[in-house]
Amino acid sequence: MATIKAAILGFGTVGQGIYHILNEKREELKNKLGIELEVTKILVTDASRERVPGTAHLMTTSMEEVLAEPGMQVVFEAIVNEEPAFSYLKRAVEHKCHVVTANKVMFAKRGIELQALAKKNGVFVGYEATTAGGVPVIKTMKNILLVNDVSRIQGILNGTSNYILTKMRAEGWSFEDALTEAQKLGYAEADPYNDVSGQDAFKKLMILSALAFGEQPDWADVEVIGIDNISAEQVKEANEKGLRYRHVAEVEKLEDGKVVAKVGPLLVDKEHPLYPVDDVNNAVALDTNYIGTLTLVGPGAGMYPTASVMVEDYAEIIGKRAGFVVTI
Ligand code: NAP
Ligand code: HSE
Repeated sequence: MATIKAAILGFGTVGQGIYHILNEKREELKNKLGIELEVTKILVTDASRERVPGTAHLMTTSMEEVLAEPGMQVVFEAIVNEEPAFSYLKRAVEHKCHVVTANKVMFAKRGIELQALAKKNGVFVGYEATTAGGVPVIKTMKNILLVNDVSRIQGILNGTSNYILTKMRAEGWSFEDALTEAQKLGYAEADPYNDVSGQDAFKKLMILSALAFGEQPDWADVEVIGIDNISAEQVKEANEKGLRYRHVAEVEKLEDGKVVAKVGPLLVDKEHPLYPVDDVNNAVALDTNYIGTLTLVGPGAGMYPTASVMVEDYAEIIGKRAGFVVTI
């Protein structure tokens, strides 16, 4: 049986999740894919700290070392920020490695370029985990777009914000306590300002826009408001009136072809489809011409939901490479 060597870039919440799933599912993946996947390198900033027992020998701080590994074929990327992530993945695809990323900051800006480069090099880019955590919105939309046009996308795209708003309303927690808990649970970004300012949801919305419409609106034209100015009193008052705060991202292609987007808090009543979407869950509603509106709901952040869709991306890539459809 063929063995494929893989690297994990970043060994925090998501990177460790990938490692655990690949180990826990080793036999099953071998049987389903006919291929054995072995993680042989893990890239971090501080290689002296063993995060998971038994991984010390895999740690490196050098991308050169990762790519010098004979037989390296797949790179999972779960680090933060545009750089050095983009440069690392660019080098990986030039080295004929498939790449799977969770990094929406990098992918919102450089995704189109990275995919073009990958195509040129005959490798694939998986990016399901960049948007809506464990909700399979990318693969669903790719499938839908084979037949349908998507005219509008609306949803809750940040798990941390939804978790905070839920805990403030349902448990009476302060904003700070809810954010601290979201950090402990591995939902929040390394810099949680990105979550609560709306920037994280904005980046995900731009990824969806590029996929649905082949373009993004001018970033400077998009109003982005976070949840950081919503007070406990406002949440309480809304609740007493039967209303809930949701943080909603929306992008639409107008009839004249212009793509417009906005991101911000919205008060919804119990008739609104986003009303029951609580905790870390995300929801994405796609308006299409033949299906109508399709809504996907599920965990928008966290170690296992995110790592799981990255391993699924890998399985899909292996299926494509071998020219068969993987059935699970
Ligand atoms: P995290 O827990 O903060 O882990 C980040 C990891 O990346 C750390 O191991 C860190 O190394 C490493 N790292 C950061 N900069 C690096 C660099 N320049 N070179 C090498 N390694 C570097 O973050 P996370 O929550 O796993 O998120 C990782 C990525 O996935 C982010 O892009 C995030 O937006 C995305 N994501 C996260 C979730 C989630 O639920 N957490 C869901 C979807 C997508 P050290 O350990 O040495 O500091
Ligand atoms: N910090 C992000 C969130 C992680 O809370 O939605 C998932 O992309």
